[in-house]
Amino acid sequence: MLVIMAFLTALLISGNTKDEKVLDAFPNQTMNCNERTVLQCNISKSMKLNIVAIFWRKQSEEGFKCDPTSSNNPPGFECNYTREALTLTILHPTPANIDVYSCCIRADSTHGSEKINVSLGKCSGEFSPNMTGPGQMECSFNSVYPDGIINWFHYDRNVTSNSNITSLKNSDGTFNISSILNIQDKEERYNCSLWSIKNGRYLKDQEFEVEVGVGLGVGFSQGSRTSTQHCLSWTLLLLALMFSLRTCLSL
Ligand SMILES: *[C@@H]1O[C@H](CO)[C@@H](O)[C@H](O)[C@H]1NC(C)=O
Ligand SMILES: *[C@@H]1O[C@H](CO)[C@@H](O)[C@H](O)[C@H]1NC(C)=O
Ligand SMILES: *[C@@H]1O[C@H](CO)[C@@H](O)[C@H](O)[C@H]1NC(C)=O
Ligand SMILES: *[C@@H]1O[C@H](CO)[C@@H](O)[C@H](O)[C@H]1NC(C)=O
Ligand SMILES: *[C@@H]1O[C@H](CO)[C@@H](O)[C@H](O)[C@H]1NC(C)=O
Ligand SMILES: *[C@@H]1O[C@H](CO)[C@@H](O)[C@H](O)[C@H]1NC(C)=O
Ligand SMILES: *[C@@H]1O[C@H](CO)[C@@H](O)[C@H](O)[C@H]1NC(C)=O
Ligand SMILES: *[C@@H]1O[C@H](CO)[C@@H](O)[C@H](O)[C@H]1NC(C)=O
Ligand SMILES: *[C@@H]1O[C@H](CO)[C@@H](O)[C@H](O)[C@H]1NC(C)=O
Repeated sequence: MLVIMAFLTALLISGNTKDEKVLDAFPNQTMNCNERTVLQCNISKSMKLNIVAIFWRKQSEEGFKCDPTSSNNPPGFECNYTREALTLTILHPTPANIDVYSCCIRADSTHGSEKINVSLGKCSGEFSPNMTGPGQMECSFNSVYPDGIINWFHYDRNVTSNSNITSLKNSDGTFNISSILNIQDKEERYNCSLWSIKNGRYLKDQEFEVEVGVGLGVGFSQGSRTSTQHCLSWTLLLLALMFSLRTCLSL
């Protein structure tokens, strides 16, 4: 009887230690572009650990190792360790940081590791307009993720067919997308819109208006028209004043 009891207890204990995870982490995490992100693996409270080694790994990069006790860690990453948790901080997330990261721990009595699948939201990029020459207009979005295309609009009219697009991939995985529009009719304003292929929608905040300036001379002619109008209204005002003055004096 006693023997059986001891056996069962031993089985229970060994079962327990096998089942209890040393580390605990959420399996998925999404980062925002360029926004400092912290990955965390919690150390089980019930564990009394005499730690031998502690580090982070990146699945697709063999040589990647972030060790909180080392001063020689991959650039753009910081890792820390407390009694409760291991953390890996990604300072400026880019598409190059999308990966599966593992936190690893080795102690005298046990070891453990947990995987975190890290993805990235969209990077809207930076917009820059460019006057390439008369009759042409270029619009660029740099550091965009995921890849996209540029459509051109003149109010309700889709004028994308008069444009040519180029997309270049940067080493951090983002794209520089630019498009040159051939301006056929002397319209002043266009919207150049970044369409995200993956999200299937326009990134609206990227819309803008441009004025065809020096290249076509439209901007200037409009400017002089308004100043003529100003001149006229001042003359009218002066005339009105003079008339009212004369009426006053004659009274
Ligand atoms: C780890 O601990 C922190 C702080 O106690 C908690 O907010 C977080 O939810 C824990 N993570 C997991 C995977 O349980
Ligand atoms: C994590 O992502 C995988 C694959 O995208 C999914 O199957 C799983 O349910 C997710 N887990 C959680 C906890 O969200
Ligand atoms: C984490 O470690 C880095 C050095 O790798 C240090 O600069 C930083 O202040 C630490 N952060 C925390 C929250 O302890
Ligand atoms: C990580 O998550 C992405 C989607 O968020 C999924 O496509 C990919 O298959 C996952 N990778 C692994 C190794 O689970
Ligand atoms: C603007 O266009 C000119 C002519 O095509 C080009 O040389 C220049 O690099 C462009 N500038 C930017 C900021 O794209
Ligand atoms: C550009 O887009 C804005 C916002 O959608 C819109 O109000 C404006 O009329 C558009 N301008 C042109 C020239 O298409
Ligand atoms: C505008 O035209 C382009 C190609 O010419 C097309 O791919 C796009 O879907 C059109 N967009 C809209 C809103 O009509
Ligand atoms: C686009 O580029 C091609 C090749 O350089 C050229 O033949 C074509 O005229 C261009 N189209 C427009 C609308 O600029
Ligand atoms: C993308 O644009 C940035 C900023 O203008 C520039 O520094 C970088 O070299 C460009 N990348 C490519 C692949 O042309």
